[in-house]
Amino acid sequence: MAVLSLRHYGDPVLRQVAAPVALVTPDLKTLVADMVDTMWHAVGVGLAAPQVGVSLRIFVMDRGKAGTRALVNPVITERGGHIKEEEGCLSLPGIFAEVERSEWVRVSALDDDGQPQSFEAHGLEAKIVQHEIDHLDGVMFIDRLPPVMRDRIKKRIQKEGFEERPRRRHAFAL
Ligand code: NI
Repeated sequence: MAVLSLRHYGDPVLRQVAAPVALVTPDLKTLVADMVDTMWHAVGVGLAAPQVGVSLRIFVMDRGKAGTRALVNPVITERGGHIKEEEGCLSLPGIFAEVERSEWVRVSALDDDGQPQSFEAHGLEAKIVQHEIDHLDGVMFIDRLPPVMRDRIKKRIQKEGFEERPRRRHAFAL
């Protein structure tokens, strides 16, 4: 297992629509294990494959006491409610903003053994699922902000870059 290097906003791989996984192979299990290591190392609660430079539809999430879960080719099949909460992103270190999301989602995917799984996610888990599937579609959370706020953040990034070790950690980063 290994900690992989994280791609930051501005890297073109984060803007690609990731390709579906055609076949779950042992190599994919290694990638998933490395993604979990990378997520923990970065103190994140979710990580999508494009964030480590792999344009495939895979993400991992930390489910607290329930452990970690890998989702391959995930699809949201149902959603409901609205929430607006602060989010961060491992590919946008030090940037936090309130993002509107569905309150709950039902998601179908394969696990890293190629077995189908489907579950309903609420609260933080629902936020992770939506944020990571956005990454698989080349969408970053700042794209979901009002234009004025998004432009302010983009200008700040152009001027100051990213903090290597963000001092402020308002919310979980995904
Ligand atoms: Ni993210």
